[in-house]
Amino acid sequence: MKPTVKELLQLIPHAQTVEVRGWVKTRRNSGNLCFIEVTDGSCLAGIQVVAESDLANYDIEVKHLSTGSSVVVSGTLVESPAKGQKVEVSAKSVELVDRADPALYPLQKKRQSFEFLRSISHLRSRTNALGAVARVRSALSYGVHHFFKERGFFQVHTPIITTSDCEGAGEMFTVTALDTAELQKKDPFRQDFFGQRAGLTVSGQLQAEIYALSHGRVYSFGPTFRAENSNTSRHLAEFWMVEPEMAFCDLECNAAVAEELIRELVAIVLENCADDVDLFNRFVSKGLAGKLEQVRDNAFVRMTYTEAVAALEKSGKEFSFPVSWGIDLQAEHERFLCEDLAGVPVIVTNYPKSIKPFYMRLDDNSTTVAAMDILVPGIGEMIGGSQREERLPVLTQQMEEAGLDPDEYSWYLDLRRFGSVPHSGFGLGFERLVQFVTGMANIRDVIPFPRTPGSAQC
Ligand code: 4AD
Ligand code: MG
Repeated sequence: MKPTVKELLQLIPHAQTVEVRGWVKTRRNSGNLCFIEVTDGSCLAGIQVVAESDLANYDIEVKHLSTGSSVVVSGTLVESPAKGQKVEVSAKSVELVDRADPALYPLQKKRQSFEFLRSISHLRSRTNALGAVARVRSALSYGVHHFFKERGFFQVHTPIITTSDCEGAGEMFTVTALDTAELQKKDPFRQDFFGQRAGLTVSGQLQAEIYALSHGRVYSFGPTFRAENSNTSRHLAEFWMVEPEMAFCDLECNAAVAEELIRELVAIVLENCADDVDLFNRFVSKGLAGKLEQVRDNAFVRMTYTEAVAALEKSGKEFSFPVSWGIDLQAEHERFLCEDLAGVPVIVTNYPKSIKPFYMRLDDNSTTVAAMDILVPGIGEMIGGSQREERLPVLTQQMEEAGLDPDEYSWYLDLRRFGSVPHSGFGLGFERLVQFVTGMANIRDVIPFPRTPGSAQC
């Protein structure tokens, strides 16, 4: 593999011969010279190529090179006299691999709206902002694996097709091999591929719990799917979730791991993606870098749901959804708590049982459960988790109350029959994390190919 632009920019020049392969970002002609900025996606910056008019194809190709055209440049790496770059390439040859017709290529020099860029998701990763998002997303993904490996966790590949609706919210996409006519028949899924109704997973949690009870500390990191018709800047129909599950871990331990994970991932991005963060800080979300440093360096605030409701009621603020004990917190409430009240991420615990799924551990008061959500400024909920109900009779009753048939979940109940232990876990919405660290306003711009109601292009 030849060095990337990022690697070339870090070399000390001693007139060595190098090759640059990438796409033309800009070209400027000046006298007998042509300055071409070539990028290859490896970093935000491009490398400057200086071509002189004695190149054989100078008049017919080089001086007309257009944005987006692909090139292979061979030349000498030299110190650059220009400001803002240490090195440049003095070209010995510039090969035009493929031209991007400037009359047709949609990514011209002027800034395009993120909305427009969504309509060309096959080209948008070539822009500065979306290119930076892709690099930050990759750094975060690597950071997730690094974080867990350092702490003795094993990765578990939980299934994408499943028959259990973990969250019980009825948001599973059905997976079927039946045709439309067969689906009209009585009890159709009995004749279907799996012999029962199956769907795309909404969470790998229940299966992760199985491995937590054999391997202690595990995590799953994969795509999850929800057929919820939410056209908001925080919802996708297909999104990635990081789901650790830990045996012998209570709610307090769960919250500590979750906080440490977010703060370490923020630190990784600040350290490894400084140029990209600087771009977001200047053009996407002013003050972002300071906000990230603050999250990296300060402890999160903790409060119970009951305390959170009291604070919301006391705030005197008019919310569109009125607040009272028992309601599910809405984005506006979540944002008030972390943006106006705390100014830092907030961990809210012990929610009413009635608004949380069946698997959460019942508190001694029998009205709240050992749940935990982490709310972050600008986003709202980034993490949802809990200590799990490990007591067989209590879990069976919770299931029945939730309208679930315990026989269908006998494998899940077995985990409480044979060597049950207190255990906890959480799900971190990976796109919401990417949104948070990049300051991108819309979740559709932090996943390469967003799936939302009415939209599944590319
Ligand atoms: O709070 P949720 O629904 O929790 C669970 O699914 C648990 N089973 C996780 C666990 O304990 N292992 O989802 C977890 C997180 C949310 O906090 C949010 O960040 C993200 O997943 N999320 C979404 N992100 C994008 N689009 C959606 N439609 C999302 N729904 C949830
Ligand atoms: Mg949640």
